[in-house]
Amino acid sequence: MAILELPGKREVVGNLVAAQLSRRGVGFFSFGEYFESRPLLEILKPEVVVKDHTWIDGVAYRALRIDDSLLRETLAAHHDSLLYRLEVERGSVELEVRGNLMVFSWFLEERREEIAAMALASFSEEGRGVVRASYRDVYELRLAVNPPLRVEVRPAGVEYRGRLTLGEGEALTLYLTGAPRGGAVKPIPPQRVEEEGRRRVREMLGALRGRVVEPRYELLWRYMWYVILSNRAHVEGHPVLKRPFNMPSKLVYRHQWLWDSAFHAIVLSSYDVRMAEEELMNLYEAQKPDGRIPHEVFLSKEFCKLFWSVDDYSPWTTQPPVLAIAVEVIRRRGGSREFLEESFKALDRYDRWLREQRDSDRDQLIAYVDYLESGWDNSVRWDEAIARYKRSPETYRGRYREVRMAPVEAVDLNAYVYLQRRILAKLARSLGLEDEAEEYGALAEETRRRVLSEMWDEETGFFYDIWEDTHEHIKVKTPAAFTTLYAGIATEEQARRLVEHLLNPGEFWTRFPLPTVSADDPRYDPSGYWRGASWLNMLWLTYWGLRRYGFNEEARKLAERALEHMARGPTCSENYDSSTGAPMGAPDFGWSTLMITIIEDLSTGQGVDAYIVA
Ligand code: GLC
Repeated sequence: MAILELPGKREVVGNLVAAQLSRRGVGFFSFGEYFESRPLLEILKPEVVVKDHTWIDGVAYRALRIDDSLLRETLAAHHDSLLYRLEVERGSVELEVRGNLMVFSWFLEERREEIAAMALASFSEEGRGVVRASYRDVYELRLAVNPPLRVEVRPAGVEYRGRLTLGEGEALTLYLTGAPRGGAVKPIPPQRVEEEGRRRVREMLGALRGRVVEPRYELLWRYMWYVILSNRAHVEGHPVLKRPFNMPSKLVYRHQWLWDSAFHAIVLSSYDVRMAEEELMNLYEAQKPDGRIPHEVFLSKEFCKLFWSVDDYSPWTTQPPVLAIAVEVIRRRGGSREFLEESFKALDRYDRWLREQRDSDRDQLIAYVDYLESGWDNSVRWDEAIARYKRSPETYRGRYREVRMAPVEAVDLNAYVYLQRRILAKLARSLGLEDEAEEYGALAEETRRRVLSEMWDEETGFFYDIWEDTHEHIKVKTPAAFTTLYAGIATEEQARRLVEHLLNPGEFWTRFPLPTVSADDPRYDPSGYWRGASWLNMLWLTYWGLRRYGFNEEARKLAERALEHMARGPTCSENYDSSTGAPMGAPDFGWSTLMITIIEDLSTGQGVDAYIVA
């Protein structure tokens, strides 16, 4: 007899992914490293046939031998759910599985087969030897077990508890995915578990009732709500991630990222403003003494060390400063005074840090000094900057403490900085801080003026990144230029010329529009991550930019062109092949749900006041 136990299980979402891919598992892919699991390996003390999990096509395999029996463990991340499978290939093994797992419900009847579950699960440890999913909040979980487990009702909640004997050819299968939503814990009799699950999903959807959505996008829209809500996680007792937050994708990106969270908060704010506030408060918590808001907050130091060689929960970089945009969206939706005060303090210190640490020529045009800091990891934009740095690193090391490319004053970065300063001025004013309001108003103006005078190229009618050193244009056309529309920096005439580029099939009007580099660039690769695939956060910024300048029809066409492909699945993926529209990268990706706001705007025309922020 052996007990399968997951002691110390703290984290909420997609837990068994973490359990099985923990440090002893598949190494680099072990995104759930924060929690300590005792893999089956240790518990059963089997002879291990294949020592480590092998990772093939998204599936981890391991074979175990116990006495004369042979077991095979398989772990696969399938679209939105995790499959954990334990098979007895030869002989038999007796295993007690105890747990407190609950409820499933169909969220999308139409995709019953494909989206096996909407599972919002929390695990916490309550005594050794027990896997316990508790429901401090509302959690939905589908548990598919074969053969079925016996169900018991316990004071703390429903408990599925059973002993099962796995004989030759038998298998145990669990599907789990998850996310929490506020609510109280109460035990539910087993015969009502499914009914209760349905009720809770209805309750969740109740918050969305009354919204008008065009029928052709309704399924996609609901699916995206499922994605944003089911990526939510809470890591109990974590030193930095003190509040619930959204993982960009519960199955792939399992930490908190800076710009991802800002986009998540924009979407969440229309569901529950407090959730959106929470999403950002962890980032303030993680802010460094010098004012930097870090790039990402890891679940564990171990993983941060592995990736960045830094003994901390965060690396030494930041990410695109779109946080202020989210703060302003929240403010308009009734953000609390406390949150706005905290936000002002954090953003004020952050802006100072950008001025001191990312603007060595002090011209109020901020620079990227690291490709990962840009959020556009491997973009064509940075090819030459990285090459220049490699040719003479000492040139740049004097100016910046940590640097991995020749500093680039990027157009999108400065559009965001401009907005951040405008928003800071507004926040200061609302908090009665007149001097600060003046200061930020002036800084914003300086940045705007410089973007216009330094980055615009009259001949080609486009905005370009520039070298910090020389202020020469880096002539790579990317949708970063369209952020000048979102920010309201471009003149009417410049906007008109930008739109010509946007609508040109040889540049940005690809099948899935807005590739991350213009299709006429020799390096354009339609499925290349940031080298030509299309990303929804850039599309979102461009959409509202067009709306801002009155290009309403163009905005609609841009959105429809993208939504056509997304609705086909529906899919809500990390990015899309710009020449075929095929979904790529992480499934159920957080910021792609920004399209929720666009679908709602297409249906009602009422998004302008909410999302155009300064
Ligand atoms: C990738 C993206 C980056 C994003 C992160 C988390 O690294 O390039 O922009 O923040 O994933 O989604």
